[in-house]
Amino acid sequence: MKFDTVILGAGAAGLMCAAHAGGRTLLIDHARKPGEKIRISGGGRCNFTNLYTEPENFLSTNPHFAKSALARYSQWDFIALVERHKIAWHEKSLGQLFCDGKSTQIVAMLVDEAHRAGADIWLQTTIREAAHCGAGFALTVEREGVTQRIEANNLVLATGGKSIPKMGATGLAYDIAQQFGLSLTETRPALVPFTFPEGRFAALSGVSLPVRVVSARTSFEEALLFTHRGLSGPAILQISSYWREGEAISVDLASGLDLFARLRAQRQRAGRRTLKTVLGQAMPTRLVDHLSADLNLDARLADQSDKALQSLCDALSNWRLTPSGTEGYRTAEVTLGGIDTDGLSSATMEAKTCPGLFAIGEAVDVTGWLGGYNFQWAWASGHAAGQAI
Ligand code: FDA
Repeated sequence: MKFDTVILGAGAAGLMCAAHAGGRTLLIDHARKPGEKIRISGGGRCNFTNLYTEPENFLSTNPHFAKSALARYSQWDFIALVERHKIAWHEKSLGQLFCDGKSTQIVAMLVDEAHRAGADIWLQTTIREAAHCGAGFALTVEREGVTQRIEANNLVLATGGKSIPKMGATGLAYDIAQQFGLSLTETRPALVPFTFPEGRFAALSGVSLPVRVVSARTSFEEALLFTHRGLSGPAILQISSYWREGEAISVDLASGLDLFARLRAQRQRAGRRTLKTVLGQAMPTRLVDHLSADLNLDARLADQSDKALQSLCDALSNWRLTPSGTEGYRTAEVTLGGIDTDGLSSATMEAKTCPGLFAIGEAVDVTGWLGGYNFQWAWASGHAAGQAI
């Protein structure tokens, strides 16, 4: 069987690419349904883009690589597509756009767009082998127990990253990219919770508060969530993409609170109260209890000098922690790193040294922040390759 284009992976990027590719297109996926990560994303409502998408919201060895594709298919283009399909949406916070209904509406929209462009979708199909064949590519696949050979002028790698292997994530795109001479950058789990020694925060599990979290490279102001295993929540997921083993992070537990002024005012008004009582009015009480012994919070406010109050505020705004690790690919939302952008055209996503081979989406060394940026990269890179085909 011969196709103009075969796209490996019917996820976010692959479906978008199929919707824009001309000619005879085949999408191949080993899953039972297309776009499974879209379906489970955003708590079932899919945070499909971000109003404030900028190249600065992406990590890559080459920070300029994503600019061209993001500029040519922006958040506004995707919003227009969503509106054409009459999918209702809302902004939750920080520019994050979600469906009012279910994320399966986005999957259905993309499948519809791919079908309208004339693409076929083969699901539950195993990719056994990929090879050069003349100026194009030959694939050996297994479908419904039958081994088939497929030929294509263009081959698009869109099988995503390694995160959540339980959902069928594999390193196939990396393997085929390497086979055709592309190199990889180091891959690691990103947007992932931190782990700490057993029981360290068990008593705080479920406590959430707004924080500013700072690493050696950057900082984020969002919510932090204590879990049985360690720390999670948007602020932690964001910083995890920048964190490296052994590094400490600093958490400002009093983010947005003018704690020093508050403590001084309370010392004036209610000096007999303990620090614990007063702090418990501004911060989660379970957290204050947890910190109490270390910071001597049973002491009375009236007994605290300005200097002592200031050093308490400093300790709360620079709570230093060294995670033992992360939860890994088991729960990571994305994979950092991947197919080296050095080998790809930023305008078309085509391999510079292997004409007809394209790589898009999460498989490429472009990783977005939390908040709809990863889907926007999938749409933009899928569109760039589709337009070029
Ligand atoms: P994607 O993973 O979407 O698709 C890859 C496809 O390839 C899959 O269909 C898979 O079955 C197939 N495949 C893999 N290996 C194969 C093989 N060997 N053979 C055949 N097929 C194979 N992002 C965001 O912007 N907003 C959000 O709300 C969320 N939420 C979210 C929640 C959770 C729990 C996760 C895990 C991730 C997110 N993300 C997110 C990230 C987002 O889902 C991700 O970045 C994109 O889906 C990447 O799109 P791709 O098309 O590159 O890969």
